[in-house]
Amino acid sequence: MSQLEFEHVSYQYPGEDFDIIDDLSFSVEPGSFHCIIGVSGCGKSTIFRMTNGLLQPKSGTIRVGGEPIGAQKHYCGYMPQKDLLFPWRTIGENLALPLEIMGGLSKAERRERIDDALADVGLEGCRDKMPDELSGGMRQRAAFARTMLTGSDLLLLDEPFSALDFLTRISMQEWLLGQWEKHKKTILFITHDVEEAVFLSGSVLAVTSTPIHILTEVPVPAAYPRTRECLTHPDMVALREDLIDVLRKQVRP
Ligand SMILES: Nc1ncnc2c1ncn2[C@@H]1O[C@H](COP(=O)(O)OP(=O)(O)OP(=O)(O)O)[C@@H](O)[C@H]1O
Ligand SMILES: [Mg+2]
Repeated sequence: MSQLEFEHVSYQYPGEDFDIIDDLSFSVEPGSFHCIIGVSGCGKSTIFRMTNGLLQPKSGTIRVGGEPIGAQKHYCGYMPQKDLLFPWRTIGENLALPLEIMGGLSKAERRERIDDALADVGLEGCRDKMPDELSGGMRQRAAFARTMLTGSDLLLLDEPFSALDFLTRISMQEWLLGQWEKHKKTILFITHDVEEAVFLSGSVLAVTSTPIHILTEVPVPAAYPRTRECLTHPDMVALREDLIDVLRKQVRP
């Protein structure tokens, strides 16, 4: 059974006269890692906003674990493109949010889960710090820990590393693959960075035309676990250049 399935899904923003998502069908398997690439404004984040229920499709069905999402709660963890952490809450209070929303845990149990999650992302001792006391990479890891605390098997990560400097970004990519291999989640990851998409994905989902009618699935010829060395393999270099070409054709001069 697919982890996530879009079946003939369309979406039109109020005030627009066209469907930005136009009869889109695709599915992803449990435990897979896919990056979604496509030019700015093509509707990638819209796909996530429909998946997490923030936007209602105009038509079509979205299923998670085989069930329509309308009948489900807490079925995905979502890391938005910006505004990751509430600046007025400590790191611990930020991480408490999904647990507070789900309910059913005592304060002591919440604290234990939060401490475990912080240790898992290498942020022991940061519980009482404010977000602006952390570096960009540390804030991303805290936001990822919060996403993991939703307990969902499906994680939607919208350009999580785009604001990071190059060296932090590549170490975060390696770190994320490690987390994915350890926790066996299904990850959808939006990025503009084609090399990042190739390094992380089992197969890349490329937006090859707009409005989005299909996501073109492009397999990545490298096994997991991966190191950055795989990026120098001629097949991987060729794939990266092909994908850059595909995206370039979408950008109007
Ligand atoms: N609330 C809204 N009302 C009307 N149009 C919107 C709204 N939100 C987004 N759009 C438009 O829908 C299109 C798709 O937006 P979306 O955020 O999904 O793009 P994206 O592919 O994620 O872009 P980027 O790569 O820049 O993040 C854009 O052209 C945007 O201007
Ligand atoms: Mg976006």
